[in-house]
Amino acid sequence: MSEKIYTKNLPENFYSEDVAAMKEYEKQQFFLKKLKKIISDLEDKKGRKLTCNVTTFGCQMNARDSEKLLGILLEAGFEETASEQADFVIYNTCTVRDNANQRVYGRLGMLNSYKKKNKEMKIALCGCMMQEQSVLEKIQKSYGFVDLIFGTHNIYKFAELLLRTFETKGMVIDIWKDTDQIVEDLPVSRKYPFKSGINIMFGCNNFCSYCIVPYVRGRERSREPKEILQEIEKLAKDGVKEVMLLGQNVNSYGKNLDTPMSFAQLLREVEKVDGIERIRFMTSHPKDLSDELIQVMKESKKICRHLHLPLQSGSTRILEKMNRRYTKESYLALAEKIRKEIPDIALTTDIIVGFPGETLEDVEETIDVVKTVQFDNAFTFIYSKRTGTPAAAMENQVPEEIVKEGFDKLLKVVQETARMRVKRYEGQIMSALVEEVNEQDSHLVTARLSNNTIVHFEGDASLIGQIVDVSLEKCEGFYYIGKRIR
Ligand code: 5AD
Ligand code: SF4
Repeated sequence: MSEKIYTKNLPENFYSEDVAAMKEYEKQQFFLKKLKKIISDLEDKKGRKLTCNVTTFGCQMNARDSEKLLGILLEAGFEETASEQADFVIYNTCTVRDNANQRVYGRLGMLNSYKKKNKEMKIALCGCMMQEQSVLEKIQKSYGFVDLIFGTHNIYKFAELLLRTFETKGMVIDIWKDTDQIVEDLPVSRKYPFKSGINIMFGCNNFCSYCIVPYVRGRERSREPKEILQEIEKLAKDGVKEVMLLGQNVNSYGKNLDTPMSFAQLLREVEKVDGIERIRFMTSHPKDLSDELIQVMKESKKICRHLHLPLQSGSTRILEKMNRRYTKESYLALAEKIRKEIPDIALTTDIIVGFPGETLEDVEETIDVVKTVQFDNAFTFIYSKRTGTPAAAMENQVPEEIVKEGFDKLLKVVQETARMRVKRYEGQIMSALVEEVNEQDSHLVTARLSNNTIVHFEGDASLIGQIVDVSLEKCEGFYYIGKRIR
């Protein structure tokens, strides 16, 4: 089942009947082969490689999708460049808050000026923002220089869509309402050789009243555990040590599989994969976090000591309007249970300020939760009205000054708390996975502790991808300066 919302310049089966009859994976391989020929001919004509740039907005899911886009582009014969003055540029967009949309519009103007200098340049847009009707209309009306637009459900068709942009003149558009297709094994180009995200599920069924994700990412679909484990085994053989299991609400993983399986059971299986040393996951919904999961985390040697547990608000009255399906008290009880079972865990969260009808008293309730739980970090957002969500139609949208007052007050407490929490390991020795050479000081490397805190210490590029023991000498606010021990 794949219902389309809008297509343009993309006739159904624009190749032959034979291609139409192929399985989706073979179909995309066929298009990729055609694409390779076109890119190689262009390369001969220009006397140089064609360059591509993939720019990601938004969350880890988008970052993972971008690795798939880049995988196809490299396979087709493009060379990656950090500059947006490239032969092919794609923006993988986010629409969770309006400022993400505004950034895309702003940067599109710049891309247009690059295209004026390089007439054969191609510009593509994909991701969550493209699933919105109003965005699609605006781009067609005011950004006619864009060559390709597609959404979140048909990213596996990227090879086909890309090919089409070389074979037609007008803007190619392909936006679907939803899909139940999950196409496995297409090329991926990972950003880091030693760690990788893995989609375990797509979409969301929660419909929190402020959130646009269920509308743009569709209904919840879990991947088969067999496929997930095979992918992780392959990654491990390829040198990956840390995996991040990705889903909008991983705690409801597996409920709709033919043979249902809980997220905790999946984690037990991932734990068995040789070579994988660290397991992370994102994101958990408090209403679905099971005792079984806490137990698996507690017993695990590989699951990292970090749990991201979005609170959104500490006021039960607002939580109800947000359709979060837990209360201040039940969240506090859950956090306490987790901390009791796994004392060294870092708890992080997301908080929204300025939801319709929220008063400064409600913000005080949120501050109370922050002080009680003592989050290791909290991402605080100003409420952004998303057209089509129930909250957008609510009365009592909060005036900007009140939002700002509450936000500033909350931020202060969040920062004080996080500083204190991060500091508690000063002087201890912990293992850390080295991720990169420090951007500011090339004598230092940047590594991540199991609890997600960053530590910088003396070292060089040869350490990248290694797990080493580091003494956490000095806490500098939200990170450590350390010294390698082993
Ligand atoms: N306005 C502000 N923040 C939002 N989030 C989701 N929707 C909105 C919105 N309309 C935040 C939530 C979520 C995080 C990914 O983004 O806190 O957990
Ligand atoms: Fe949005 Fe709520 Fe789904 Fe998270 S759980 S993606 S906040 S609807």
